Amino acid sequence: MALRQQLQLLPLSLTVPVSVPAYAAAVSLDSTTTSTSGTGLLKLARDFPDPSIVRDSDGKWYAFATASGGARNIQAASAPSPSGPWTYIDKEILPSAGNWTLGGGGPGSNTWAPDVRLLSFDKYVMYYAGQLGPANASAFHCIGAATATSVLGPYSALPSPLACPVSHGGAIDPSGFLDENTGRRYVVYKVDGNSLGHGGECNNGVAPYRNTPIVLQEVDREDGVTLVGDGMEILDRLEEADGPLVEAPSLGDDGKKRENVTYVLFYSSHCWMTELYRVNYATARNVTGPYVRGRKGGSLIATGDGRFNLTAPGGATSVDGGGRMLFHANCAQGRYRVETSLY
Ligand SMILES: *[C@@H]1O[C@H](CO)[C@@H](O)[C@H](O)[C@H]1NC(C)=O
Ligand SMILES: *[C@@H]1O[C@H](CO)[C@@H](O)[C@H](O)[C@H]1NC(C)=O
Ligand SMILES: *[C@@H]1O[C@H](CO)[C@@H](O)[C@H](O)[C@H]1NC(C)=O
Ligand SMILES: *[C@@H]1O[C@H](CO)[C@@H](O)[C@H](O)[C@H]1NC(C)=O
Ligand SMILES: *[C@@H]1O[C@H](CO)[C@@H](O)[C@H](O)[C@H]1NC(C)=O
Repeated sequence: MALRQQLQLLPLSLTVPVSVPAYAAAVSLDSTTTSTSGTGLLKLARDFPDPSIVRDSDGKWYAFATASGGARNIQAASAPSPSGPWTYIDKEILPSAGNWTLGGGGPGSNTWAPDVRLLSFDKYVMYYAGQLGPANASAFHCIGAATATSVLGPYSALPSPLACPVSHGGAIDPSGFLDENTGRRYVVYKVDGNSLGHGGECNNGVAPYRNTPIVLQEVDREDGVTLVGDGMEILDRLEEADGPLVEAPSLGDDGKKRENVTYVLFYSSHCWMTELYRVNYATARNVTGPYVRGRKGGSLIATGDGRFNLTAPGGATSVDGGGRMLFHANCAQGRYRVETSLY
C-alpha cells in the first residue's frame, strides 16, 4: 500500500496527516490451511507502513518501511528474530532515490514501500517506488532499485527505474522473491492504475474503473535488477472483492519442493484510507499463475478481526523461511483516525 498515495490526490489546501501510526505485526501463517494463528505484535509503536523484512547473513533481521513526514527516504529497524524485540534505526538508508525521482531523490522525496533482498554474501538490492521528477509527469511513481554492500546501506540508486508504466498510472509496491525451486528471481509490483481514476475511493471508486494489475517480472538472479523477459499480470482487482484496487503484492512459497510447491501471493485490497483495507492471499502451483483467491475472496486479515482487532491491516510481506508474514495496521487508539470522509 502506498502511504502517501493519498497526498497527491488531495487538494493541497487540505491538511492531511502525514503520519499514520501503524503497528507492524507478525503472525504465523499455516500455509496448509492458510489461516492465521499466534499474535506477536512487534511493539514497534511508531509509524512504520509498508514493511518488508530480510534476514542478513549474520542472522539478524531487518525491516524497512516507508518514511512519513519527509525527513527520510526510508525507515529501518532490526531485531534478533522476526518476533522481536525490534529496535528502530535512526539513519538514512537511501540517501538518494535516484536522479529520475522528484528533487533528485534526496530525503523526503516521497519514496514508498522499500523491499530489501540479500543477493549474495555482501550484495543487497532495495526495490522501492520513487516519485517521478517534474520532467516525467511527476504525479506518478515508478519502480526503482538501489544496491549496497551492507544491509543498512547506504544504498546507491540505479540511474533509471526498473519499471515505469506511466501511461497506466505508474507502478508502486515492489517486492522481491527468489524461487528456490527454479533458481529464478522475481519482482512483483502493482500498476498504479487508480492514480488515473475518476474519483471516489482511492480515486477509483467511480466508473469507468481502472485496472490495477499485479505484475510478476523476472530479474537476473545474481544482480536482482536486470530484467529477464517481459512482466506478466498475475492478478487484478475484482469489483466485488477488492473495490478500487489490489496492491502491495508479496510472494512466498509453502516450503515444499518442486512439483509440490504452492506459491502464496499476499496482496491488499480496498482503499488504505478506509476500514475496508485488508490483507488477502491467492495461491498458485506455478509462480506464473494462475493465482486463485483463498476462501472469502482471499480475505485473510480484516479490520476488527478477533485475533488482532486492528484497523485497516495491509501491506503484508512473506518472511523468508516461511510460516510468517509481516504487515501494518492503523493504531486503534491512534493519533490518526481513518477519515473516509476525506474522499
Ligand atoms: C545524479 O546525477 C549526478 C550528476 O550526473 C551524479 O553525480 C549523481 O551520482 C547521480 N546520483 C544518483 C543517485 O544516481
Ligand atoms: C524523464 O524525462 C527525460 C527527459 O524527457 C527522459 O530523458 C527520461 O528518460 C525520462 N525518465 C523516465 C523515467 O521516464
Ligand atoms: C511430492 O509429493 C509426493 C507425495 O507426497 C512425494 O512422494 C514426492 O516426493 C514429493 N516431491 C518432492 C520433490 O518433494
Ligand atoms: C510454469 O508456467 C510456465 C509458463 O508460464 C511454464 O513454462 C513452466 O514450465 C511452468 N512450470 C511448471 C513447474 O509447471
Ligand atoms: C476492538 O477495537 C475497537 C476500537 O479500538 C474497540 O472499541 C473494541 O472494544 C475492540 N474489541 C475487542 C474485542 O477488543
